[in-house]
Amino acid sequence: MKKTIIEARNLYKEFGKNAVVKHINFTIAENEFVTFLGPSGCGKTTILRMIAGFEIPTSGQIFLYDKVINDIPAYLRPLNTVFQNYALFPHMDVFENIAFSMRIKKQEAKAIEAKVAELLEVVNLSGYEQRDIASLSGGQQQRVAIARALANDPKVLLLDEPLSALDLKMRKEMQIELKKIQREVKKTFIYVTHDQEEALTLSDKIIVLNHGEIQQSGTPIDIYNEPINTFVADFIGESNIIDGTMTKDFEVEFLGKRFLCVDKRPSLETDRVQVVIRPEDIEIGQCLEHTINGVVTSIVFKGVHYEIIVQCSESEYDFMIHTTDYHEINKHVGLDFGPDDIHIMKAG
Ligand SMILES: Nc1ncnc2c1ncn2[C@@H]1O[C@H](COP(=O)(O)OP(=O)(O)O)[C@@H](O)[C@H]1O
Ligand SMILES: [Mg+2]
Repeated sequence: MKKTIIEARNLYKEFGKNAVVKHINFTIAENEFVTFLGPSGCGKTTILRMIAGFEIPTSGQIFLYDKVINDIPAYLRPLNTVFQNYALFPHMDVFENIAFSMRIKKQEAKAIEAKVAELLEVVNLSGYEQRDIASLSGGQQQRVAIARALANDPKVLLLDEPLSALDLKMRKEMQIELKKIQREVKKTFIYVTHDQEEALTLSDKIIVLNHGEIQQSGTPIDIYNEPINTFVADFIGESNIIDGTMTKDFEVEFLGKRFLCVDKRPSLETDRVQVVIRPEDIEIGQCLEHTINGVVTSIVFKGVHYEIIVQCSESEYDFMIHTTDYHEINKHVGLDFGPDDIHIMKAG
């Protein structure tokens, strides 16, 4: 078991009468890459700012190792933040930007030089010491900001949507770069984004938020494969979400057909459940007695797969399917699902 470095207990924050972080609990381990993921306004930045010390919790506690740090001012916390807008000093070159905090601490020139060189290598910008900030691309500026944030050896790096100002291609490159940097410097990264794909790519652990509440936390694979409710299923990747009924364990009925599943019946007063099926988990075949039958109404090539819409004959429910097989518009098809491909949620 890895050692916990940051922990929140019953963390609560309101602005005026507006509760934005609602009694949440989480732990973050040393050297872990943890991402807070959720839609705009769900409280991500507020959580990060409370960890950083820029915002004081209304109640609850934040721990660094086994010490409560609620009352420790930001500049005394061994943490550093990387902002979306980089916040670099435009009138200084790359070297001076990175050296800034070490100069303030009056470190020796030799030590500063060595550290800047080391950090520039980490962020893949060796040789850029004398460059003007304005002459750098967005991605390069972000790397300088990361190097600067690492200069005083924080234990934890906090990153608030740091890639969102970059174009798509640059963003993808920086995602890979960031993961590499994190492995190399062996520090805890706490990352905030509303981009589910970014969270899946980068994280050891994802904490999914909505309206200031944690919906689910786990590895990217856990969260993608076993979403705990329809919010998570819908937010992380695309999903077909269908009303169903479950009268016993391991069998669910929806759209007039019965399917085996691997879930037990949730403990509920009603038989109603919601069924979540990922687009890539649906098999398209012939119309059969046990399949859900419908008509192909749309097919779009997406690069790796086709995205196909099949409208069910009886319910008019539209299934989205991702497959590498081509199916013509207006073709009658049957949809089938393996027990593993059916995820049962409590009805929302
Ligand atoms: N200083 C503030 N004063 C009042 N309301 C705030 C303040 N900061 C954030 N909020 C509100 O708190 C909610 C959560 O904001 P934020 O943490 O920035 O969300 P996110 O980063 O997930 O988009 C929003 O409704 C926002 O308007
Ligand atoms: Mg934010």
